[in-house]
Amino acid sequence: MGQIVPGAVERYLASLNRQSDAVLLDIARAGATADLPLIDAEVGVLLRVLVTAVGARRVLEIGTAAGYSGIWIARALPADGLLLTMELAPERVTMARANFERAGVAERVHVMTGDASLLVNKVAGPFDLIFQDGPKQHYVPMLDRLIALLRPGGLLVTDNVLWDGEVVPGYVEPPRRDPADTAAIVEYNRRINSDPRLTTSIVPLRDGVAVSVRGPE
Ligand SMILES: C[S@@+](CC[C@H](N)C(=O)[O-])C[C@H]1O[C@@H](n2cnc3c(N)ncnc32)[C@H](O)[C@@H]1O
Repeated sequence: MGQIVPGAVERYLASLNRQSDAVLLDIARAGATADLPLIDAEVGVLLRVLVTAVGARRVLEIGTAAGYSGIWIARALPADGLLLTMELAPERVTMARANFERAGVAERVHVMTGDASLLVNKVAGPFDLIFQDGPKQHYVPMLDRLIALLRPGGLLVTDNVLWDGEVVPGYVEPPRRDPADTAAIVEYNRRINSDPRLTTSIVPLRDGVAVSVRGPE
């Protein structure tokens, strides 16, 4: 905690967050024990705000893990909405499906098992919001396809774009993250901030969340 935003400020923000519920708290606790890389509750609320703000009915997520971020998203969808979420590891898919059931959102969630960089070519858009939280080295190669799947005015939301501050040369010495992942995120940030199809703002919340809107075009 506190690598980007000072720890005291992060604790203050966390203390204001009253949005969580028993299922989410339980998954977060189990995720921490099992060392699962889940989003933080503050990013969960941001996702919920964004899904609600764009009136999303169809959402695509890359990287399901145990379904934690998916539940934040699905709870903000209308009853006939759809979250399509993709996960490579079959044991995580099993865990996520059970958690979606427990959270009462399974009817509006469809989990696809496999490599998301291939699966995205098998699904049809448009999506109102896409949450990219998969492998960092897939961010750039998947970008064009994800933009194509997004409706005009839709949002591409990407987690971990500040990578504990390591995207800033010399900020973390010695670096702790895989340099190939860091380089991939640096290049991704450059692209989403210069691509004429997107307008991007990076929110320095937790590990950094990029919010890109498709447009103006
Ligand atoms: C950061 S975690 C996702 C966390 C999740 N969004 C949450 O906050 O609850 C990334 C997930 O991507 C999965 N993953 C890794 N490579 C993948 C691939 N090629 N396609 C789909 N998922 C992949 C990992 O198994 C892991 O569960």
